[in-house]
Amino acid sequence: FNLMQPKNEMMLTYLPGSREKQSLKNKITEMKSSVIDIPLIIDGKEIRTGKTGQCVIPHNHGHLLANYHMAGPEEMEMAIESALKAKVKWQETPWEHRVAVFMKAAELISGPWRDTLNAATMLGQSKTVHEADADSACELMDFFRFNSFFVRQLMEEQPNGFDGVFNRMEHRPLEGFVFAVTPFNFTAIAGNLPSTPAMAGNTSVWKPASSAIYSNYFVMKLLQESGLPDGVINFVPGTGSIIGPMAMEHEMLAGIHFTGSTATFNRMWRTIAGNLEKYRSYPRIVGETGGKDFLFAHSSADVEPMVHAIIGGGFSYQGQKCSATSRVYIPESIWPETKNLLLEQLADLKVGDVEDFTNYMGAVIDRNSFDNIKSYIDHARESSEAEIISGGSYDDSKGFFVDPTVIVTTNPKFKTMEEEIFGPVVTIYVYKDADYEEALDLCESTSEYALTGGIFAQDRKAIIEMEKKLCYSAGNLYINDKTTGAYVGLQPFGGARASGTNEKVGSKQNVSRWMIPRTIKECF
Ligand code: SER
Repeated sequence: FNLMQPKNEMMLTYLPGSREKQSLKNKITEMKSSVIDIPLIIDGKEIRTGKTGQCVIPHNHGHLLANYHMAGPEEMEMAIESALKAKVKWQETPWEHRVAVFMKAAELISGPWRDTLNAATMLGQSKTVHEADADSACELMDFFRFNSFFVRQLMEEQPNGFDGVFNRMEHRPLEGFVFAVTPFNFTAIAGNLPSTPAMAGNTSVWKPASSAIYSNYFVMKLLQESGLPDGVINFVPGTGSIIGPMAMEHEMLAGIHFTGSTATFNRMWRTIAGNLEKYRSYPRIVGETGGKDFLFAHSSADVEPMVHAIIGGGFSYQGQKCSATSRVYIPESIWPETKNLLLEQLADLKVGDVEDFTNYMGAVIDRNSFDNIKSYIDHARESSEAEIISGGSYDDSKGFFVDPTVIVTTNPKFKTMEEEIFGPVVTIYVYKDADYEEALDLCESTSEYALTGGIFAQDRKAIIEMEKKLCYSAGNLYINDKTTGAYVGLQPFGGARASGTNEKVGSKQNVSRWMIPRTIKECF
């Protein structure tokens, strides 16, 4: 069996005139030319409830891509039953055959499915071509390949024995079903959350985010084409407040694999706490939630890469990443140079329709998000403690467009320094060089989150100091780099505090959460 340590998938360049660009453009045109009907997929069967929602293009919200059917209590019940039924066979399927389904899915993405998933993510979630390829192609392939490899490693790790005693570890799936609740902002994360437990022999009910149903449906179709048996993953769009409690209050709930908001995750913990006596086992609750990610600069920082990091970390995918840089601390001595370069580079940054491959940013996901981001920008505009030095405008006439916005504040605890905005808004606090220690304390204490952070310095002593001081402030710390774009297997991703349970997606640790180990000692 040749499941070796995988390598990360390389992104395609989509250069002008390239074959890959033309092929993707054709796929986009084809997908835009019809409105599809998206059913639920339960036990491998398509189910249409007639209660529907709509998928539109965020950068062109008058364009309908799909109508999707929504589950009610009856379909949710069916999905749970289907997962429990499918588990009987799936858990007895040798792990090599389970992971082979996902290894094959990765191969199909490197072939004909790459265009479909990228086009769906560009249209449905308004990702630029490079953001889409990094996500729905490369990261999803990486999750499937690396997690397959981690399954192999876990299966092969065996304890020592000695003469007359044979010790073994067996890794069985959890008892019951897994509830996978996935976010809109990464197609790869959406595909990964139900898939990792499945590789370990579990079955799941997958509730995709309403605003990503278009791409997520194609991921589900890809898995079916890759040989996923009926019922192993059940695709159930619906309203969280209606169908969520049905999964969470079920006696056979074995685990939750979640990425989304801290508020939703907190509600899930409370529901589970209120039902503890019902469950066969304590449900494994694995979740990645919000962030208020920092970039902290020391006076020795190299300004040019730092400005790239502020732009890349703050504005790629319109700042809609839990890892997005959103609060920045700059010492006064390097502020003039930083500000000039930042304004110069932001002036060249294009926002618009992602179907034009030269745009750097598309639209934000939907009206709720647009209104929410707008309220933060307006708050800054009206405050005497803040100045908007770049951007600040928004326009929802055709799509939900928000310009990349930079706010400079005199108050390090200003609202936009503290709250997660999930949009293209970066707030900067300029500190006096002499107050470096105090500014570091502020960075440490300002946010309840601890997902990602970046520190910039050339001075090694400062790097050591900052790394130590901020040891609980970020699950992923970047030294002289941007806070987004972790690679599966290279920078296992996740944070603690209000950012989640820190069980890094795409890691051996995460895979092990979907297994119940049994130790067997046999004496001869
Ligand atoms: N893994 C993503 C990143 O690193 C966020 O979910 O940006």
